[in-house]
Amino acid sequence: MNILAIETSCDETAAAVVHEGRWVRSNVVASQIALHQKYGGIVPELASRQHITAITPVLQEALETAGITRAGIDAIAVTEGPGLAGSLLVGVNFAKTLAFAWKKPLVPVNHLEGHIYANWLVAPGHEGQPLPPAPIFPAICLIVSGGHTDLLLIHKHGVYEILGRTLDDAAGEAFDKGARILGLGYPGGPAIQQAAEGHRSVEQLPRAWLGDSYDFSFSGLKTALLRAAEQYRKSEPHPDQQTRKRAAPPPGPFPEHTPPVYSPNMPAGDLAASYQDAIVDVLVEKTVRAAELERAASVLISGGVAANALLRRRLESKLRAKDIPLFVPEIQFCTDNAAMIAAAAHQVLRRGALAGWELDVHPQLPWSSLPGVRVIERARG
Ligand code: KG4
Ligand code: ZN
Repeated sequence: MNILAIETSCDETAAAVVHEGRWVRSNVVASQIALHQKYGGIVPELASRQHITAITPVLQEALETAGITRAGIDAIAVTEGPGLAGSLLVGVNFAKTLAFAWKKPLVPVNHLEGHIYANWLVAPGHEGQPLPPAPIFPAICLIVSGGHTDLLLIHKHGVYEILGRTLDDAAGEAFDKGARILGLGYPGGPAIQQAAEGHRSVEQLPRAWLGDSYDFSFSGLKTALLRAAEQYRKSEPHPDQQTRKRAAPPPGPFPEHTPPVYSPNMPAGDLAASYQDAIVDVLVEKTVRAAELERAASVLISGGVAANALLRRRLESKLRAKDIPLFVPEIQFCTDNAAMIAAAAHQVLRRGALAGWELDVHPQLPWSSLPGVRVIERARG
């Protein structure tokens, strides 16, 4: 079974071919980072327009790299949500048209389920070797992306118990906002990771432990970073701190993205290291605690923030000490890609949940709405 998947939920135009839900035959991602960088964040309309121009060449390259044609494809999968409406529309319409013209089943995929199944992927180049072990259930899965921070207990395929989620900013959003405060650019996660390299966490920034809860909160941390950085500010206060009374905002489509100007003696590397340390600390502690208390047979991480080197390193060493196997997707499968959508589509197909031609986009798609999926909400104290 070969699934061709299309992913356009945010700012990456992606297509991939995956065999048997695990073997990646091709994984093509056209990143829009350069386009959005000058605005300091994603501009939704530009993202949709870029998807329209990039999607056909991306598909062509995915088929060519996989060495496959229409006849070798068994189903077309596409991300139906959650994500930006205008971006999702491009992918869904493209996939629908392809499925119609090629007479193939159309498989709708939840982007977050895609992130989970990134842990099942085997990168090209391993053909002919034994299939690497798949994650073992029950598994604890930490999904950390630009829009989500969810801690799940996966009982088995399609049965998800939500242990905790963020009460405010997602982990990736916290990285992005922190980088903006420090003037490090977009996307913030890689920028903060790079700035923190060779620096130590020196500033004691707050961690929101929230008692025994598995929920997360990063907004207090962000404010603490802003306060620490403000001392070094040369010109106007950061827009987040400007009072409502201020007259006209600076020109430009996204005035809040205007980079701040700091004195050269600001220890940006130390602040980035301290901030990264605080985010990673909470993510690791809660994930490891959940793994122990829920007697997980394995731990998985996924989403863009799962590419973070400190997070991977710390989880690895803490879980090794407890003899709990950790699964981390290759970096190329952590940030948005279509291979993970194909892997999840393999499960959607097993559940028999195909889409009809009326398939629409679902910017806020909840887990619980997926046919054949059971979502359990853990009662919170
Ligand atoms: O999963 P993803 O590509 O898109 C969403 O579904 O949101 O995640 C993007 C997020 C961004 O917030 C980005 O700053 C963050 O992942 N990210 C990282 C790293 N690489 C990407 N965060 C921390 N460290 C990284 N190395
Ligand atoms: Zn994502």
